[in-house]
Amino acid sequence: MWLPCGGTSNYIVTHFRRRLFKAYFRDLGRRRCNVAAFMPEAAGFDGVSDRSALQEFSVSNSESFWAAVARQRLSWIRPFHTVQDCDLSRGEIKWFVGGQLNVSVNCLDRHVHTCPERVALIWERDESGSEVKVTYRSLLEMTCRLGNLLRRHGVKRGDCVTIYMPTCPLAVASMLACARIGAAHNVVFAGFSAEALAERIRDAQSGTVITVNQGVRGGKVTELKKTVDTAVQSCPAVQQVFVAMRTENPVAMTARDVAMEEEMLKEDVVCEPAAMDSEDVLFLLYTSGSTGKPKGLVHTQAGYLLYAALTHRYVFSYHDGDVFGCVADIGWITGHSYSVYGPLANGGTTVLFESTPIYPDPGRYWEMVQRLKINQFYGAPTAIRLLLKYGDEWVHKYDRSTLKTLGSVGEPINTEAWEWYHRVVGDGRCPVVDTWWQTETGGICISPRPSDADAEIVPGMAMRPFFSIKPTLMDTEGKVLTSNDVSGALCIAQPWPGMARTIHNNHQRFIETYCRPHPGYFFTGDGAYRSKEGYYQITGRLDDVINVSGHRIGTAEIEDNQCAAVAESAVIGYSHDLKGQGVYAFVVLKNDVEVQGAALCQQLNNMVSKKIAKYACPDFIQVFVQRLPKTRSGKIMRRVLRKVVERDLDGVGDLSTLDDPTAVQEIIQESRTE
Ligand code: WTA
Repeated sequence: MWLPCGGTSNYIVTHFRRRLFKAYFRDLGRRRCNVAAFMPEAAGFDGVSDRSALQEFSVSNSESFWAAVARQRLSWIRPFHTVQDCDLSRGEIKWFVGGQLNVSVNCLDRHVHTCPERVALIWERDESGSEVKVTYRSLLEMTCRLGNLLRRHGVKRGDCVTIYMPTCPLAVASMLACARIGAAHNVVFAGFSAEALAERIRDAQSGTVITVNQGVRGGKVTELKKTVDTAVQSCPAVQQVFVAMRTENPVAMTARDVAMEEEMLKEDVVCEPAAMDSEDVLFLLYTSGSTGKPKGLVHTQAGYLLYAALTHRYVFSYHDGDVFGCVADIGWITGHSYSVYGPLANGGTTVLFESTPIYPDPGRYWEMVQRLKINQFYGAPTAIRLLLKYGDEWVHKYDRSTLKTLGSVGEPINTEAWEWYHRVVGDGRCPVVDTWWQTETGGICISPRPSDADAEIVPGMAMRPFFSIKPTLMDTEGKVLTSNDVSGALCIAQPWPGMARTIHNNHQRFIETYCRPHPGYFFTGDGAYRSKEGYYQITGRLDDVINVSGHRIGTAEIEDNQCAAVAESAVIGYSHDLKGQGVYAFVVLKNDVEVQGAALCQQLNNMVSKKIAKYACPDFIQVFVQRLPKTRSGKIMRRVLRKVVERDLDGVGDLSTLDDPTAVQEIIQESRTE
């Protein structure tokens, strides 16, 4: 021993050790405490001391993660005995097996017990400045009356009710009333035509429809009840139509119709909730695929609700007392998960936006943010791009200091729009979360948050997977790409509670679309790039689905229109300044057709809006095509048409598989002269 005094050296070493130990445990304690404050369930997860450990735990111990979260965050009538029973390769997905619950109880009753007068909904009506607030107590009452009314009219557990309404409290109550009595709902976006509505009513085998007399949007009145009247003419199974009054104008009622509000008043305000199994159907929601027939994605009770709630809480950092402003229509999945189910499951206050971003003027969103003191604003890139063009003054005019998080959804957000959203709307203070997900995923799967408050956010990138989500990229041969700085087909490697369970009446299509392309994985249909840092950026659809202003539409759906003048057509998505993607149609006319030019375009557009909806109408129609380029097996060469649309004629590539290469020359020739 070289120190003269061993005692002293021992003291120093022990003392030092003790201090180190203390500091270590204090730090560990603080980190544990932080992560438990962030997510209380984390306190029970072994080895989870910070957020990145929590993320890893949720991926590698997904069952324990979801079991704890499900016990903590949902009210169960009967606890589940099996966390999950899934086989992705066979498309069999079950979560929380054996459990029973009621979604409306989770969204309403339990909050009525603790805070009955808290505002659940703020209905931002089309008429600016005339918002209506609905407390949890009154939303529960509304839901119960409606549940009783549906029951009295014979709607039973397992039936499917179609809802064709604008975004309003009665639409939310209708969804929750279905959930209360165990019926499934099928909300159809109120912009869809009578034919599109009828197709969805028939496919869903709905016997009941709920609608309003008229809709009001952007100051314009739409005849929703009349549209339903037309639709049900070709839906023999429809026995009753409930009609609520959005405007004061009376509408013609038939023997099938029920005056909804009047009849609701006769009902009791208490309605016994049905005990639903976790895997009973909660709703169908139709979305476009790569065939002409839209698919009714099926979401079930517990897993969907839990996933919507957890993503709402953590992606947006939603806290008690916040006002959440998702401006999506309830007719889309974003409206389902983030205007209705997520916020209500969390006991939140959620805005129902009935209007448009530019009505009565381009300051509408921000005036609303100021008036309603919105804390999280969730919107679509297409609207942001539109507002950017109107200039900063419309934003600066209003106080946006309540805003804490800004969200973007539905399509890629370009850097310019992202920067403007961040710098002008959020005054550079608020994180912008570009959230990637789909009707199929039920809730957000990739998003910059949750992550540490100071974690970087790269403009225009969804970046980080949510808890338990394991994104995987595949190359063209179906091999997993393991390195970074690569692009591939985006798959998700393990099931999560929010994912769709099947396609209504067509499980085979579900398997073929999502499970078969990469066995053992869920295939999203999107392409993605993984950066050097491991962040994800969505690069767009890999199939024949285009995304117009954040609305999905299958090219085949537009092509399938039977127009007397048209022999055949091909629809291509192309890059569009405002809408993200525009619709470009190549049309081959029948020989004897006389109508030409503008009249023909008008006719074709009318067809599409009658068959589908206005948003699906082509932006550009090339009608003078003689024939479409096809392979020898008769498939239209979309790749070639895309290049023609993009004016990338050198990139047309190998034409050797074409049946008749001169068809391409003709199209190029014609597009040059036009
Ligand atoms: C696209 C909407 C890029 C994507 C919630 C997806 C996005 C489709 C993003 C789903 C995003 C959605 N960045 N693309 N942040 N979010 N998409 O079913 O192509 O209406 O597959 O669900 O929109 O559209 P859906």
